[in-house]
Amino acid sequence: GTPDFGGGPVGPDHAGMAGMAGTTSVDRLREPPGPADVDVTLVARGGRVTLPSGRVVDGFTLNGTTPGPEIRAVQGQLVQVRLVNENVAEGVTLHWHGYDVPAGDDGVAGVTQDAVRPGGSFVYRFRAGQAGTYWYHSHQVADPQVQGGLFGALVVTPTDGLGGTGDVTAVTHLYQGRRTVNGLDGDVAAPGAPGTRVRVRVVNTDNGPVQVWVGGAPYRLAAIDGTDVTGPTPTSDALNVTAGARADLEIDLPADGAGVRVELGGASAVTFGRPAAPTPRPRGELDPLRYGSPAALPFDPAAADRRFDYVIGRRLGFLDGTPGLFWTINGHLWPDVPMFVVREGDVVRMHIDNRSGQLHPMHLHGHHAVVLARDGVPATGSPWWVDSLDAQDGHTYDVAFVADNPGLWMDHCHNLTHPAEGLMAHLMYE
Ligand code: C2O
Ligand code: CU
Repeated sequence: GTPDFGGGPVGPDHAGMAGMAGTTSVDRLREPPGPADVDVTLVARGGRVTLPSGRVVDGFTLNGTTPGPEIRAVQGQLVQVRLVNENVAEGVTLHWHGYDVPAGDDGVAGVTQDAVRPGGSFVYRFRAGQAGTYWYHSHQVADPQVQGGLFGALVVTPTDGLGGTGDVTAVTHLYQGRRTVNGLDGDVAAPGAPGTRVRVRVVNTDNGPVQVWVGGAPYRLAAIDGTDVTGPTPTSDALNVTAGARADLEIDLPADGAGVRVELGGASAVTFGRPAAPTPRPRGELDPLRYGSPAALPFDPAAADRRFDYVIGRRLGFLDGTPGLFWTINGHLWPDVPMFVVREGDVVRMHIDNRSGQLHPMHLHGHHAVVLARDGVPATGSPWWVDSLDAQDGHTYDVAFVADNPGLWMDHCHNLTHPAEGLMAHLMYE
């Protein structure tokens, strides 16, 4: 099978790429030993699981719950997570989605490590360099494992705190087609005193996008994919949060205690204040390309060292000897796809052209890219940094990033049925 999505090797060791001739061993790119500030053990288990709502589904838990425990760190801390596989026969890993960890800790079965076999364990370590909202999930036969619940939130707060702003995480997930927030069905009441400001961290763990809007108060889109938006202004538009993406919403709760509802797809909500009726989806949709105020980039995208053209298509072919209609990159099926080769320090530009007939939430591991233009129209708002890009059918995206994290990195669609059908590539440092 294809590494990871069809199932990577389940190993007794942590060899990862060590066995690949002529390539850098990602296994060597690890956080050096030392005492950890945040030290967590997560035990993965498969079988019948009971959601916080009481509903029983076939799936996976971490320490007995799904979502797994939220991992919280303060910027600058060293995080250590020991993953133990109790009984998942296919093996498990943990990938730190959106977090720029060292390559050897990226958790991609068959690429950066072997999957942890039942009875085995693996220790992940990384420095919490970036504040913001992220998540973790298994990256071994990832579609069933993530859909089945093997994930949790990763939140890193700034060293100087949030200045009295309330802090609420809203992990949304469809378990067998039903929308939940933090594992609960329906509405979830969150703490937040009238007249205070709260930050709601929406994490979309699904294969598809979720529409988010707020009833009862305007909101500011404070961060996208863990990166602060510059100059966010109050809006009441709906927000599209693509698969794998995160959005931090800042809301000033009404002083009179009137109800505020953060609607997640219209099927589930995080609520504040007095109970209030669900609000219909607003007509307007926020466009991150135009939202917020412009700010200087930390590099010059015009002076790109590498340019990659990335056309997403679809055609008949064979994958693992099986015929079917598969996703392609520049006309090729995985593994016959281009390897994006970079050198450390390169400014990289990618032109992504989706002509495949479907939406693809493209996720690049280990890096954050800034969206420069959509359909050739340059961005006019805040720098729009993403690790999960909503690449819509019939549209083009120009993105840029700095190759500042050596290793071998996946770049794939986060509709997790798609990479198993060909839609994945790799970024490799030479
Ligand atoms: Cu969240 Cu390679 O995935
Ligand atoms: Cu896709």
